[in-house]
Amino acid sequence: MYEKYFIVNSLTDAISLKEKFAESARILAGGTDLVLEMERGMHSGIKEIVDISRVSGLDEIWMDDQLYIHIGPTATHSACLKSPLIQDFAQCLYQACEQVGSPQIRNRGTVAGNIATASPANDTISALLALDAKIELSSSNGKRIIEIDKFFMGVRKTAIMKNEIITDIYFKSLKKNEYSCFIKVGLRNAQAISILNCAVLIGLEGNKITKARIALGAVGPTVFRAIEAEASLLDQSISNGLFDKAGDLAGRAANPISDIRASGDYRRSMIAVHVRRALHQAIETENEIKSNPVVLWGKEQTSNSPLTTNSIELDETNIINLSINNKEFSFTGGFGKNLLDLIRENALLTGSKEGCGEGECGACTIYMDGVAVLACLIPAARAHHSNITTIEGISPEGDLHKVQQSFLDEGAVQCGYCTPGFVMSAVKLLEENPHPSVDEIKTGISGNLCRCTGYYKIISAIELAANE
Ligand SMILES: Cc1cc2nc3c(=O)[nH]c(=O)nc-3n(C[C@H](O)[C@H](O)[C@H](O)COP(=O)(O)OP(=O)(O)OC[C@H]3O[C@@H](n4cnc5c(N)ncnc54)[C@H](O)[C@@H]3O)c2cc1C
Ligand code: FES
Ligand code: FES
Repeated sequence: MYEKYFIVNSLTDAISLKEKFAESARILAGGTDLVLEMERGMHSGIKEIVDISRVSGLDEIWMDDQLYIHIGPTATHSACLKSPLIQDFAQCLYQACEQVGSPQIRNRGTVAGNIATASPANDTISALLALDAKIELSSSNGKRIIEIDKFFMGVRKTAIMKNEIITDIYFKSLKKNEYSCFIKVGLRNAQAISILNCAVLIGLEGNKITKARIALGAVGPTVFRAIEAEASLLDQSISNGLFDKAGDLAGRAANPISDIRASGDYRRSMIAVHVRRALHQAIETENEIKSNPVVLWGKEQTSNSPLTTNSIELDETNIINLSINNKEFSFTGGFGKNLLDLIRENALLTGSKEGCGEGECGACTIYMDGVAVLACLIPAARAHHSNITTIEGISPEGDLHKVQQSFLDEGAVQCGYCTPGFVMSAVKLLEENPHPSVDEIKTGISGNLCRCTGYYKIISAIELAANE
């Protein structure tokens, strides 16, 4: 269990804390990996958390005059989905971000965190490999740039040194004649780790392939490029059988393990199928990107809420101050808890539920600074000086929100345990998109599990609320 929680307001502060504490200090961006790993006892040596999620401007996604797209270290997967630059010039990365977890996970999880965790099954890293991304690492000694194909050293091992922080991720925007596509195979449509994934990128002059990248995920100890498959495409004209051959070569390059989710043989043969499919989809017009993705931000413009004070140092002796449902609270004894426990045990607001405690079920969905997130994955200290809304706060006391009323009218309240989380997601969805399609509703509630699989009534309740 960590002893100090630093909420920094500048990269300079984060870098000097990393320098000072080295191995015992860990950077926290969204915390979607780190919080669970600490709970599972994987990081007993961590004494200090350095939370960079509230440094102003670090979540920006921008293009420089050399047409490189830069992703700041706290840019979330949702921020990538909302970015016109990623939508227009990095389709494979858009598609990878779209596949990460659920809207609530994407609202906290960052691309930098995905890279730093370095699981070969992580989704954005194969897309970034196909895009030939570069990673900027900063420390008190200055900056260094590392190519993404030299960054991953093994399962969950990277080239980041103890005193370094990822401060930028950048890649050349795709040209008009360059096409890309990311495909993931998981056991479900949402909240499923990749059984395998692939990202492809091809450049065309007329019908001739002038550039080829094929990156494979979850079929080796790190993501890697299928070099022979790429070579089989170069300088060739698109013809029957060309993509089949590239797929087969990619399948042969795969070196997957067998585990509970799939056998190695299945993964190898599916890589061949999906590389072929991704190559076709990359050049087909149906590979279109949504300009108005479901992110559950409501009316917010960003999922980041910058700190307006100097950097803050908290330990168990400090009071955590926050606003919940427009009421100010000050808690002692909350340090070290997660935000869900703080809300339930200290604020005694028990509407938000703990279904899994691992980010999987959505029963703990709340809004932090206006954006839907999972309270079980957020350190209570992170919420210091934040505005929280829980299910108790979505309508004036004594009244039901129209979504709650429609859940009653449609018989969608089937157990009561998952319902608060569903209602919170639905309210945010309708705030950002008052008339969602059924597919958009499904995406909006994809981070909420109903264990009795009664989704039909829940979907019709949300449709009913939208039509009121
Ligand atoms: C329920 C659930 C479902 C998920 N589904 C998916 C999925 O489908 N696909 C997928 O790819 N991932 C998935 N994830 C994993 C996770 O959400 C992503 O890996 C996420 O991008 C991590 O980003 P973060 O900001 O939350 O990282 P954090 O948890 O804050 O940090 C992760 C690691 O990166 C380090 N780190 C973070 N930022 C920096 C930095 N700037 N410099 C140096 N080190 C840094 C931290 O110290 C830590 O070691 C899922 C997680 C959960 C809980
Ligand atoms: S997602 Fe938080 S309790 Fe299940
Ligand atoms: S309605 Fe709650 S689990 Fe199905």
